[in-house]
Amino acid sequence: MCGIVGIVGREAVAQRLYDGLKRLEYRGYDSAGICTVQGGEFERRRAEGKLDNLARQLAAEALHGDVGIAHTRWATHGAPTVDNAHPHIAGPVALVHNGIIENFKPLRDELIADGRKFLSETDSEVVAHLVAREVENGKSPTEAVATVLPRLHGAFAIAFLFKDHPDQIIGARMGAPLTVGYGEGENYLGSDALALAPLTQKIAYLEEGDWAVVKRDSIQIYDRANKPVNREIVESGALATRIEKGNYRHFMQKEIFEQPIVVAQTLQSYVRPFEGKVALPDFDFDLSTVNRVTIVACGTSFYAGMVAKYWFEQFARVPVDIDVASEFRYRQPVLEPGGLALFISQSGETADTLAALRHAREEGQTIAVVVNVPTSSMAREADLLLPTHAGPEIGVASTKAFTCQLSVLAALAANLARAKGRLTEDEEREIVEHLREAPEAMNQALNHDEDIAGMAHLVAPARDVLYLGRGPDYPMALEGALKLKEISYIHAEGYAAGEMKHGPIALIDDLVPVIVLAPSGPLFEKTVSNMQEVRARGGKIILISDAKGLAEAGEGCVATIEMPEVHPLIAPLVYAVPVQLLAYHVAVAKGTDVDQPRNLAKSVTVE
Ligand code: G6P
Repeated sequence: MCGIVGIVGREAVAQRLYDGLKRLEYRGYDSAGICTVQGGEFERRRAEGKLDNLARQLAAEALHGDVGIAHTRWATHGAPTVDNAHPHIAGPVALVHNGIIENFKPLRDELIADGRKFLSETDSEVVAHLVAREVENGKSPTEAVATVLPRLHGAFAIAFLFKDHPDQIIGARMGAPLTVGYGEGENYLGSDALALAPLTQKIAYLEEGDWAVVKRDSIQIYDRANKPVNREIVESGALATRIEKGNYRHFMQKEIFEQPIVVAQTLQSYVRPFEGKVALPDFDFDLSTVNRVTIVACGTSFYAGMVAKYWFEQFARVPVDIDVASEFRYRQPVLEPGGLALFISQSGETADTLAALRHAREEGQTIAVVVNVPTSSMAREADLLLPTHAGPEIGVASTKAFTCQLSVLAALAANLARAKGRLTEDEEREIVEHLREAPEAMNQALNHDEDIAGMAHLVAPARDVLYLGRGPDYPMALEGALKLKEISYIHAEGYAAGEMKHGPIALIDDLVPVIVLAPSGPLFEKTVSNMQEVRARGGKIILISDAKGLAEAGEGCVATIEMPEVHPLIAPLVYAVPVQLLAYHVAVAKGTDVDQPRNLAKSVTVE
């Protein structure tokens, strides 16, 4: 995975490279490093762990040079140590790499047999040696890179620096994003437009197999056949300002509290309140022709998709298949030509989702994308672009992007229902009204912040926690469990309430908190029966329901959280809030790194 920045500059680059890495930290934070070239020598600083460690090194020992490459790592091959931190140097070549070189083992064996010494356990160092060998044999940097690239299997974005050619960086991409940026008398390279935003807004996205020679006054791009090509230079529109936490203790907390505003902001693009209509952005596609929707996503975005399956089927009566992206790609799904495939992603860069999208396109699907980063690969490759307007999400555990995804998906469900003749004008007007009530209902949910903080002690000591729900609250239970796992490191499982008796019930004793999400409604009584089964075995229940539900089933629970009574279409948006807050407060009680939990990254750009 990892983030890459490179600058061929007119003046010192170390600080600017570091700032670029700060903006790429969402791609991983296991280690970081910068390498510059100066007077025929490489200068390098590397540090284990978060970027602050690298900052301390740079402060203690300044790094000189006008040309350099930088990297923030999410470890794949090799532990997150300094030796495995990028940039890697092999003789006259230094490189930073994002992705995985799948055939690194035979390449490494070949290089070792050739007498080359490896200093790290990474797959990346292999590439540095391959290019170094070509350069040492007399090839120019361009020739060396052009010779080596076809030998690499897997997905990668790489930036090379050459000791004896200090006026250039060569970048290459295959399966992982890479962008070149055009400045005044200097040029850049970065994993995304966001990394380059303070440096330039003029960028070009490299295409699969492209590689580029970046110099101060020119950028020459080649395609995979080594033919010079032009890629369109666009205004990136990426935000150059740094996002701050304000008065909040953590970004995640801030993002949870931003939800009513960003959900309202998102819904503005999808409802026309005065006309009582839901609306999608203009595109040339007739939703009434959709007979099946295939939804694909990862992580929290996948759970948003699971909620949407309930809605699309219930309201529009359109059948939905849903897969996690890493499974979808390889299970040879049967896709009818002309179908609609819907991809959901905060970042728009998740490698598995992006590959699934491309597979679906090859299979003749129309590609709809619900995405938060408008400059992302998925946004650029969509036929029907359905943006969420959550703003930059910094906390690794997704919160506001999730509820914004749900808002868009609810509006899409209503659109589909209308197109399929399943929604009268009055019903549509009613749905618009309910959607408009969502931000206020979420505000009411947020008012329980202090109560929920007071419940953290019930969950923080637990080894296992169970989340139960039925209908759309089943994916919400999965999401609740994921939030808790991600940031508090407590083992948690989400289960369909009715399925609990087929296994997880064996886990229940008086040490296992069970969080039940159960708005009053047709499924409520059934869930209450499952609660009784938990209670009979000594399980401690925290019930999240509305006043009606709590009056009926709140007695005997160790804690209850009262939600406003809302329409089923907006209930998941509202019930997301207490599960997020509970995970947050438990993590704070445990003292974990809430915004950058161990081993995770915000955007997963490897398979
Ligand atoms: C990572 C993040 C999750 C996110 C998932 C999918 O695992 O840590 O928070 O839900 O990727 O990311 P996407 O950007 O595609 O929504």
